[in-house]
Amino acid sequence: MEKGTEKRGQWASNFGFIMAAAGSAIGLGNLWKFPYLAGTHGGGAFVVVYLLIVLFVGFTIMLGEMAIGRRTGLNAIGAYKMLSKKFTWVGMAGVLSGFLILGFYNVVGGWVIKYIVQFVMGGVQGDSAAFFGAFISSTAEPVIYALLFAVATALIVWKGISGGIEKASKIMMPALFVLLIVVMIRSVTLPGAGAGLEYYLKPDFSKLTPAAIVAALGQVFFSLSLGMGCMITYGSYLSKDENLEKDALIVPFMDTAAALLAGFAILPAVFAFGFEPGAGPGLMFITLPQVFASMPAGTIFGILFFVLVLFAAITSSISLLEVCCAYVIDEFKWSRTKATWILSGIIFVLTALSSLSMGPMSGFLIFGKNFFDLLDYITANILLPLGGLMMLIFIGYFWGVDKAAEEIEQGGKFQFKLKGFWNIMVKFVGPIAVGVVFLNMLGIIKF
Ligand code: PFF
Repeated sequence: MEKGTEKRGQWASNFGFIMAAAGSAIGLGNLWKFPYLAGTHGGGAFVVVYLLIVLFVGFTIMLGEMAIGRRTGLNAIGAYKMLSKKFTWVGMAGVLSGFLILGFYNVVGGWVIKYIVQFVMGGVQGDSAAFFGAFISSTAEPVIYALLFAVATALIVWKGISGGIEKASKIMMPALFVLLIVVMIRSVTLPGAGAGLEYYLKPDFSKLTPAAIVAALGQVFFSLSLGMGCMITYGSYLSKDENLEKDALIVPFMDTAAALLAGFAILPAVFAFGFEPGAGPGLMFITLPQVFASMPAGTIFGILFFVLVLFAAITSSISLLEVCCAYVIDEFKWSRTKATWILSGIIFVLTALSSLSMGPMSGFLIFGKNFFDLLDYITANILLPLGGLMMLIFIGYFWGVDKAAEEIEQGGKFQFKLKGFWNIMVKFVGPIAVGVVFLNMLGIIKF
């Protein structure tokens, strides 16, 4: 297509939008990150804090982002610029986050593809922890798999909103839930699973350190795709006939259900096989191969499960890439083709570095973290909460809750039932909660 002639995309149906937004939210954050964060931060206590933050902050920011997106019909940066120039930088921080998250997301997506291949060849034999460790710390292989994942992401984004993103999400998301439930049933019925269930369900609040609360907040942002303008971008392709309030409830609900199910699929198995719940990022890749080895037709389930993890990951990575592409398409009139492939190329440099930082470059630390962990920490714990905080301040004190409510109500077409609650959350509870956790993390206040 010629420069500047790109027509802005739209979702073909409301169901398609919900699947795409839920597809963005449900991803590696739910299946890979949530179980290991719950594992490292005391199980049940982490889960309780997580749920409270979703309920109060997650819904509030989700609705705010969708309203900004649909109102402006623009990408994250363009949207803020249109409503208030002072906040343009918030959109910029968002697009930057998209780049940085993809830098490590592609790597984990590559691991998932490797595991599919491994299961097709018969599964992981022997010590699954050693297998995982050797693979991710090797040089070329994980980079090549990450490249495959990045190319798959780019191909879908290149196909556009309804023809690529929506179509892929509508098939992949429902299938994911079915498989997740099957794996969960196997995991909770393993001999010895009880200890894992107890760890997961019984909150031990003595384990609730400030670091656990920072991690829970960061995880809510990451998991719900908030704080970087992703829901602004997806909301911008939405018609005025859609009830935003309903969507902002359904999407976090589905996302939370997926995270909780993933915890049930993974943590009981960790205990059943005598692994450490605090094993960290390797948890899913180390324990699930053991679960599959212990079940009839385990290889088939292994293939299916990792294919679905791949689906979940791709419906998220496409949203991350779309945030970046929408910006250059809207603002610089790039064609979708040019935007997709050039930006993917730039992102791949970060991806290769973050993969190598698990192996040959593991001695190269920045603030005590390797590049992979650094990208994860800066985005989930700093940039996304900061983006969310600024969005709340923007709606609460600059654009105005009433203006946002107008967009949600559409001249009375929809009754905004939670308006009073939302108003208080946007102006007071949300900024204070996020602000306090944020200041604590920066070491400015201590709790
Ligand atoms: N929510 C995705 C996950 O849980 O894996 C990750 C993500 C996607 C974060 C899109 C942020 C975003 F804008």
